Amino acid sequence: MSLFRTKPIESDLEKDTGLKRSLNAFDLTLLGVGAIIGAGIFVLTGQAAAAHAGPAIVLSYVLAGTACACAALSYAEMAASIGGAGSAYGYGYAGLGELPAWVIGWMLVLEYTVSVAAVSSGWSGYFNSGLHDLLGLELPNALLHAPFDPAHPGGIVNLPAATIIALLGILLATGAKSSARFNSVMVAIKVAAIALFIAVAVRHINPANWHPFIPPEEIIPGGKTGFNWDMSLIDFLKSIFGTASEGESRYGLAGIATGAATIFFAYLGFDAVSTAGEETRKPQRDLPIGILGSLVMCTVLYIVVSGLLTGIVSYKELNVGHPVAYALEQVGAHTAAGLISVGAIAGLTTVMLVMFFGQSRVLFAISRDGLLPKFFAKVHPKTQTPLYSIVLSGSVMVLLAGFVPLAKLVETANIGTLGAFVIVSIGVIVMRKKRPEIVRPFKVPLFPLIPIVGALSCFYLTLNLSMLTWVEFAIWLVAGLVIFFGYSRSHSVLALETGP
Ligand code: ALA
Repeated sequence: MSLFRTKPIESDLEKDTGLKRSLNAFDLTLLGVGAIIGAGIFVLTGQAAAAHAGPAIVLSYVLAGTACACAALSYAEMAASIGGAGSAYGYGYAGLGELPAWVIGWMLVLEYTVSVAAVSSGWSGYFNSGLHDLLGLELPNALLHAPFDPAHPGGIVNLPAATIIALLGILLATGAKSSARFNSVMVAIKVAAIALFIAVAVRHINPANWHPFIPPEEIIPGGKTGFNWDMSLIDFLKSIFGTASEGESRYGLAGIATGAATIFFAYLGFDAVSTAGEETRKPQRDLPIGILGSLVMCTVLYIVVSGLLTGIVSYKELNVGHPVAYALEQVGAHTAAGLISVGAIAGLTTVMLVMFFGQSRVLFAISRDGLLPKFFAKVHPKTQTPLYSIVLSGSVMVLLAGFVPLAKLVETANIGTLGAFVIVSIGVIVMRKKRPEIVRPFKVPLFPLIPIVGALSCFYLTLNLSMLTWVEFAIWLVAGLVIFFGYSRSHSVLALETGP
């Protein structure tokens, strides 16, 4: 059936596609770390510990990390055997068919666009506190927050957030290698900041803060009761079947799951490595190294940092905008706290850079296949970068960053990514059955257990996201289907080649 027509798999993954092949395994691992360590660890960990999981946020990291690791193994198999700039979108097109590929691509566009905007909001907060600490300056509230942000009334536009995105767009447009070099410096700064945190924090541990490690589940005093848009899908389902608790609750095992669905954001980004497939010299060897290497490194750091963070101050105090620096301030390590803030600014910058890079490459790949107007696939002759994709996606991100508050963006980015991970995990199983003959330089171990666990655990995490997020996601998918049936299907290069 034409909705499920597949693209032939390119046998030469190192052929010339117009993009410049300048990246190696080391660049890719740095690209991954650049994309991964950001607002998740610097901002959300403390907030999720305070609001959902307590010290057991460490277990939330293990749960979300397991789901990601399984999905990452599937990504690595697909990236090494199929390759291309489109990441999971391209793998879906070669294995599952045009419609599933479009759905994956559409989810990735959501993930990258919203993540860059969400992280830029965190960046803006750290930037302002840095201005204050170092120069004694402060921007007026109206220029620091999006309008209608319940947490920060009085905002008109988040100016620093919008500006940093515009600057990164210019950097990306000038070429992949110079961006990779800039990225390496920033990654070094943020990894140094995390190392500094670990070195200082281990000397201030108070084991009493870890007790109870899993705080007992409790109803939030004054919390919402009955149906509300902030309740998770799983709580909504429980209320239908009459097993819901009588009000909004936190902590306990359910809190660990909710925490995992939130801090899952901290892991986003390793998949962006695979979008550099056409700019990598030896993609078959280097993509799995880049994807898995960066994920392993970040998982270890996250578990250590979240354990230490809840060990130096009580988790109840961590519901602030800069929890990692705040915790150090509480134990009197003010200089270290200031340096961590600088590292956080660097960290958040690289996340935006790599996600932005991923966004423009996915749009490039989708448009090259004719599913979006050709305009997005135009490579600028001088810089060899997809300039128009960068300009258009950057403009949307600037608007989101300037005018939409942070909190909701995080969940929206998570659901888009989890959706794509579920399809990629299932896709690996389908591909092994449908196309057993293709060369697989890297294979998922313990097949089919790992992809099955990956799909189920990612799906489980989506159940812990709010009803509002689900509704937004449904609207996004419907819009995607309208574009697919209204435009993509009839303009698809594959359709023009093989007939409708
Ligand atoms: N993983 C990225 C972050 O935490 C998106 O900022």
